[in-house]
Amino acid sequence: MEVIIRPNADAATDLVARVIAKELRDKPRLVIGLATGRTMESVYARLVQMHREEGLDFSACHTFNLDEYVGLSGDHVNSYRHYMNHHLFGQVNINLKNTHLPNGLADDFEAECANYENLIVNCGGIDLQLLGIGLNGHLGFNEPLSALRSRTRVKTLSPVTREQNALLFQSPDQVPNRAITMGVGTILDCRRCLLLATGEDKAEIVAKAFEGPISSMISATTLQLHPECSVILDEAAGSRLKESNHYRWIFANEPHWENFRAASPAIASNGFHVKLQPESQSAKGIATPVNSK
Ligand code: GLP
Repeated sequence: MEVIIRPNADAATDLVARVIAKELRDKPRLVIGLATGRTMESVYARLVQMHREEGLDFSACHTFNLDEYVGLSGDHVNSYRHYMNHHLFGQVNINLKNTHLPNGLADDFEAECANYENLIVNCGGIDLQLLGIGLNGHLGFNEPLSALRSRTRVKTLSPVTREQNALLFQSPDQVPNRAITMGVGTILDCRRCLLLATGEDKAEIVAKAFEGPISSMISATTLQLHPECSVILDEAAGSRLKESNHYRWIFANEPHWENFRAASPAIASNGFHVKLQPESQSAKGIATPVNSK
């Protein structure tokens, strides 16, 4: 596992997007695991910008999202299907048939979860898994005590998670109690993991997750077991790490980061800010990267 600390959230986001773009260019049929949450909104806006300005091509890739709320249909404004259509799928040349999320309205959840696992296997497995981190250290919705070998299943959400995610709902009591999520074992099967965390509120859990002992209480600690995992942070999220000088040295010296060290011109000159258009004003719900030329 590597920890990379970038000077600010824009630079961290840009790095994540550039790694995804490089993998996609190298392998157009890339199978990408996708995450949701506020942190990912800027990653998707940057990818949309790359699609528009650099022709980044999504036409042959396949995607599998980590999770979906139980009880919400895909067109519910708070469903993760809606989130993905809004922030990414509706704005790039992806084939919607190649985009997968668990069905939160399935009649038989056990069958739905088994089917999701099979779909991933039939697609050849996930090449690159994008991850955020919850305030309690969850990956997807793998809440504390999620088994280290768990597969896709329904999980009950913890009070911390429901409170964290309530910001995206109209009122806290609307947050579903349960979600379908890839398991920790499902996530660890991917070929490469890329976790992004930004902001001071993630600093404590980031330090516990990546410099603390592996424990099912914090599912993100299991990434320490993954042979190819990059954790990308801004200074704020990395502020409680003990070995940050070592991590900086690695980014500055490891040959495989050579082409990623210099900031993108847009970041270097202006920073990258994402302005999301309110849905009522945007038929397609377009996220507008400010500063794009
Ligand atoms: C949700 C998702 C997680 C994500 C988390 C982070 O709980 N299920 O996959 O990591 O949000 O959210 P944010 O980026 O808003 O902090």
